[in-house]
Amino acid sequence: MKAEGTAMVSGASRGIGRSLALELAARGFEVVAGARDPASAAGLAEEAGRAGGRLRVERLDVTRPETLAPPDGLRVLVNNAGVEPEYLPVEHTPLDVWRRVFETNLFGLVELTRRSIPKLRATGGGVLCNVTTSSLLAPVPLYAAYRASKAAVSAFGETLTAELHAFGIRMLEILPGPIGTEMFAQSARRPEGARYSEYRGVAERVHAGRMGTEASVTAPEDAARAIADAILDDDAPLRLGCDPLSDGLLASWREQGDEAFRRGMLPAFVAPGAGS
Ligand SMILES: NC(=O)c1ccc[n+]([C@@H]2O[C@H](COP(=O)([O-])OP(=O)(O)OC[C@H]3O[C@@H](n4cnc5c(N)ncnc54)[C@H](OP(=O)(O)O)[C@@H]3O)[C@@H](O)[C@H]2O)c1
Repeated sequence: MKAEGTAMVSGASRGIGRSLALELAARGFEVVAGARDPASAAGLAEEAGRAGGRLRVERLDVTRPETLAPPDGLRVLVNNAGVEPEYLPVEHTPLDVWRRVFETNLFGLVELTRRSIPKLRATGGGVLCNVTTSSLLAPVPLYAAYRASKAAVSAFGETLTAELHAFGIRMLEILPGPIGTEMFAQSARRPEGARYSEYRGVAERVHAGRMGTEASVTAPEDAARAIADAILDDDAPLRLGCDPLSDGLLASWREQGDEAFRRGMLPAFVAPGAGS
């Protein structure tokens, strides 16, 4: 597609969303940068303007339907807003935690998408891009609620490849690896699941695995460039990484098949000889 018309990005106050909003403006889209609190995105329009781009900040909280108003002329929607809950084992995760993460990561995304489809169709099609996570590819313990919310987004997007095909709306799912944002920095904490003695071992392994990714962190600006390239590439596959680690994981997953890949990942999380 050509970089023209309007692109809307949710969760543009910081992190990947902020960098992507700036990148899409620099590529030539008129960008609506959605932020829960527009004041938190102060300076974004000016920053885009200095690089010759057009960008306006609008209030957008995916859990507040009254703030979900995709504009006319919409050609690209990026569902980027997301939250991560506490890292807890399933048996110690209250349902309220599941509800909270699904409210933002799934239901909010569904409602914003639902309202955007007629706008995308009216402009003759475009791209609908969902940001999930490369952790979908691995059986990461203590991440069940987060991974399940993103897996639901993944299935949702897959259905839309067929449902929206006739309208010229192309689906894209970006599965980031470690990107240097606030969410990633927060994930360096010792998992909350370590509070439970029976899960301490697995929590330590999750923590060690997370710390091991420090050497592979990609800057949000670089991730944003890769995502913008995929949005503009009419031949892009449905699922793509946006950094070397997620690109490598996806390539191995495709090469090995999901069963062999999952078995290969298990030793990273399970002590040798544990269970059967
Ligand atoms: N960074 C990584 O390593 C990584 C890896 C895999 C996947 N991801 C995914 O990439 C996406 C962006 O993550 P990030 O690392 O840039 O995270 P981040 O730095 O924590 O930024 C998250 C963004 O989402 C916004 N947000 C949260 N709840 C929202 C809501 N109810 N309505 C609208 N916006 C909301 C935040 O707004 P406020 O400023 O108002 O809180 C913020 O702009 C997420 O979907 C995340 O799951 C990130």
